[in-house]
Amino acid sequence: MKVIHTENYEQLSRQAANIIGAQIISKPNCVLGLATGSTPIGAYKELIARYENGDLDFSEVTSVNLDEYCGLTPDNDQSYRYFMNTNLFDHVNINKDKTNVPSGIAEDPEAECERYDRLIEELGGIDLQLLGIGHNGHIGFNEPDDKYTKATHIVELGKSTIEANSRFFASYDDVPKSAITMGMKSIMNAKKVLLVASGKDKQEILKKALYGPITPNVPASILQLHPDLTVIECQ
Ligand code: PGA
Repeated sequence: MKVIHTENYEQLSRQAANIIGAQIISKPNCVLGLATGSTPIGAYKELIARYENGDLDFSEVTSVNLDEYCGLTPDNDQSYRYFMNTNLFDHVNINKDKTNVPSGIAEDPEAECERYDRLIEELGGIDLQLLGIGHNGHIGFNEPDDKYTKATHIVELGKSTIEANSRFFASYDDVPKSAITMGMKSIMNAKKVLLVASGKDKQEILKKALYGPITPNVPASILQLHPDLTVIECQ
């Protein structure tokens, strides 16, 4: 595990963009595992700037996102598909047909979970998976539990996640209570994992995840077992 301490959010974002950019340059047709949440936004801005400067080319990149809220259509401005379009995809030359976000409105959610895992497998797995971390240690929407779930699955969101995410919605009650999330198998099988954590409020859970016991009660703690994990943090 490599931990990079940065001075501030801008530095964190540039360092994260360095690693993602290096991945795209070294393998133009790479599969990027992407994340939503507020932490990666700065890195996405950096990547857009580098694309605009002519330093990065996304034309051969494929992306797979970690998760999506159940019940939100792609054009809902709180959906993670909408987030990815507005924060990254609309501003770079990625082929939208090669961007994948699990569907939160599939008629058969179980079939959608299976489809998503099959897709990742057919793509040959993920080259670089970007992750944020929730205050409860979640990665994607893998919430604290007494077991790890390997496959993409539907999850009931925990109270602290709903509370944290309610800042983006009109009220707590408006936050979807379930989501579809990539499971631990696809995340742990990614060739590289990049975890970003910003703010004093993330320090305690980050310490638990990186140096505490490996337990599904702190889902991110499993990353200690990943052979190529980079963590970038700032307080
Ligand atoms: P945040 O979310 O980047 O908005 O803090 C991280 C997460 O919940 O995974």
